Amino acid sequence: MTPSILLTAYLVASVLFVFSLRGLSAQHTARRGNLLGLVGMIVAIGVTFAALLWPVPDARGGSPTPASPEALGVLGAAMGVGCLVGAFVASRVAMTAMPELVAILHSFVGLAAVLVGIGSHLRAARTGEALDLAHEIEVWVGVFVGAITFTGSVVAFGKLRGTIRSKPLLLPGRHALNAALTVACVALAVLALRAGGPVATHALYAMTALASVLGVHLVMAIGGGDMPVVVSLLNSYSGWAASAAGFMLGNDALIVTGALVGSSGAILSYIMCRAMNRSIWHVVFGGFGEGAGIASGTSAGTSATGRVREIDVAGAADLLLAARSVVIVPGYGMAVAQAQHALKEVVSRLEARGTRVRFAIHPVAGRLPGHMNVLLAEADISYEIVKEMDEIQEELPKTDVVVVIGANDIVNPSALEDPSSPIYGMPVLEAWRAGKVIMLKRSLGTGYAGVDNPLCYKDNTLMLFGDAKKSVLGLLAAIDARAESAAA
Ligand code: TAP
Repeated sequence: MTPSILLTAYLVASVLFVFSLRGLSAQHTARRGNLLGLVGMIVAIGVTFAALLWPVPDARGGSPTPASPEALGVLGAAMGVGCLVGAFVASRVAMTAMPELVAILHSFVGLAAVLVGIGSHLRAARTGEALDLAHEIEVWVGVFVGAITFTGSVVAFGKLRGTIRSKPLLLPGRHALNAALTVACVALAVLALRAGGPVATHALYAMTALASVLGVHLVMAIGGGDMPVVVSLLNSYSGWAASAAGFMLGNDALIVTGALVGSSGAILSYIMCRAMNRSIWHVVFGGFGEGAGIASGTSAGTSATGRVREIDVAGAADLLLAARSVVIVPGYGMAVAQAQHALKEVVSRLEARGTRVRFAIHPVAGRLPGHMNVLLAEADISYEIVKEMDEIQEELPKTDVVVVIGANDIVNPSALEDPSSPIYGMPVLEAWRAGKVIMLKRSLGTGYAGVDNPLCYKDNTLMLFGDAKKSVLGLLAAIDARAESAAA
């Protein structure tokens, strides 16, 4: 293979990844974006495989030997097993468990960067090849970032799964500990670069261990409420780790792909921090979200009390039929109940009567970025009526009825009104500014942040208790019954 063919193929793959990201930024182009990413990945893997069979001549014009059939066999088998496991896990994972899956996948990227770095160092040590300074630095940076990503992602996986307590671990002097670990890693790198030989190898192992401890400590210090940002931050770290691995292997496609993942993950983390009113630096350095993500059944902040006004499905159906404009705010409970398909039917009935119906999506509704958008798309709800929080917030006071379905934290007024609340300052959908609010949930229980919700006690809020899917099916039946009796 000629260097120009390899470079062109990598360039094509990189451009496809850029277009893929662009496609993924809007719902109606997301499928195309996914497809472009898939094609880009096939091109990148295919040409890398081809380069093993027909190696590119080196800089001096010499032709390196092709990979042995044994090496290709091992590589093919590893890829085959990886594909099978990936397809099996992805096809079975529940939507609500997606953040855990993403976290553990990030840990694999981190581990890969560590192994590539250590492998690169050991090969040079074995062959006696002198690595230039730039390559040595690539190895150290790649292993450092990779080890933090690996252990940090494993801890994030445990916290999201509930096997590790979501409450932050706040050791005394934790910032000093983080700084000391980082300085020790840098000192080991300097020592290794000066001493070389077996000292460098031992220093690399020691640095890997310290960076792994740093990864554990950084994520252990973060509360459950900030986990979404942490997962997206680890996504960014995994991109930089992949990029570093690309430098070590001299693989341009990996460098570009890693940089795309790293920078897009960093931008997403920043957007999510803004949506949750968190400082990105607090999340990076840990120890934030102390009150958030606490066990269900307990609550934080000022406890909400007052009179609860209940409504049944027949009453709720009458309110919806009388409304001219309806906004639906979906949350995690809609995902749990899988109410989106029945909801689509209710929306169709209302639209057929001339009611203006829209969905309001909070940036952190559910348990992963875009969670609600995916569910609504799955139910074939038109993108046209799905609005982001900023697009619809000002419309809420002009709305007759807001239906809150399985959402809690994202419509909690204490985020604006109660400075003692752990979610104080987080922008929320101001549902209470509408004419009426119908809130579908099973109880007055709290949501993910463990915070009582005063919205349940507002004068214009009507609680429709029960499983969201059962309630929506009840609404549908009541709406159809009204239509039938009107037609008779
Ligand atoms: P939550 O605040 O978690 O509230 C969900 C509500 O759904 C609960 O109060 C629960 O009340 C209700 N519910 C559960 N099962 C139900 C069912 N079968 N039928 C009806 N209701 C049901 O959800 P949210 O408003 O979507 O807010 C998301 C929260 O998760 C935020 O705090 C956010 O920071 C956090 N978070 C977000 C992400 C991302 S990236 N989106 C990731 C991790 C964490 P009952 O028990 O009374 O029914």
